[in-house]
Amino acid sequence: MEANFYQAMLRRKSFHLFRNAGAGTLTPEELDGIRAAFEGFEPLVPEIRTAIRIVPASQVSFKHDAEYCILIYSEKKENWLMNAGYLGEQLDLWLVSRSIGTLWFGIGKPDEPGYDGLDYVIMIAVRKISDASQFRQDLSKARRKPLDEIWAGDTLGLAEIVRYAPSAVNSQPWFAQNENGTLTVYRTRKPGRIGIMPETAASYFNRIDIGIFLCCLEVCLAEKGLPFTRELFPDLADGKTERSKVAVYTLAK
Ligand SMILES: Cc1cc2nc3c(=O)[nH]c(=O)nc-3n(C[C@H](O)[C@H](O)[C@H](O)COP(=O)(O)O)c2cc1C
Repeated sequence: MEANFYQAMLRRKSFHLFRNAGAGTLTPEELDGIRAAFEGFEPLVPEIRTAIRIVPASQVSFKHDAEYCILIYSEKKENWLMNAGYLGEQLDLWLVSRSIGTLWFGIGKPDEPGYDGLDYVIMIAVRKISDASQFRQDLSKARRKPLDEIWAGDTLGLAEIVRYAPSAVNSQPWFAQNENGTLTVYRTRKPGRIGIMPETAASYFNRIDIGIFLCCLEVCLAEKGLPFTRELFPDLADGKTERSKVAVYTLAK
């Protein structure tokens, strides 16, 4: 992961509106740069083939104040949504590092449901931001669950930042437990709707959210100089379980 991703985590925010973005536009070279960057990101699951398409925002529904939408496509294999979230969050942080505002846009409808044999997962709407003060200035003002609802054990000084990872309707479907340097990460679920999200949508988007959380967690571990090994688990649980274990990180002693 790029060293500047941590700084981007502190500054990123959802541009629900790009109204004050300014007149800057992305050049063809910058669009090529985005495609090349995505190729270089580390996947969670290397066996899963993924791709992006960058399309003018006017070509996809609902997000006409953005300049482009970046559509993420993936093979459908175990943990494919988590993997797409992990890659997409690297893209989010990469873009923010380059003064490009972003919005994970779950309700967007793609112009093409498939691409090169891959299935559409989600899109990120983007627009160049002229004035850097448009990015988040004070992380503590972002609404999030209290720390003790999402983390147990020593915070390692990083849970305080990881908790600001973005998630669909701010649902924050994660819980991490640190037991003597072994970090277990769970996807949490509540029965029924989450905000405006029906249960089936929550089960889909929350799997993407967990990948986003793992990306942010690893950015923070790197920032703190904490090497780790990671084991992933198939995120199959739905139905009655409240928590499904998705990853275990073992920190080097
Ligand atoms: C997977 C995912 C899907 C999202 N879909 C939408 C969306 O369709 N419309 C929207 O306005 N915001 C969407 N968001 C943005 C979230 O509402 C936002 O990340 C959350 O409220 C936290 O705010 P922040 O990103 O400004 O920190 C989505 C976020 C994620 C991670």
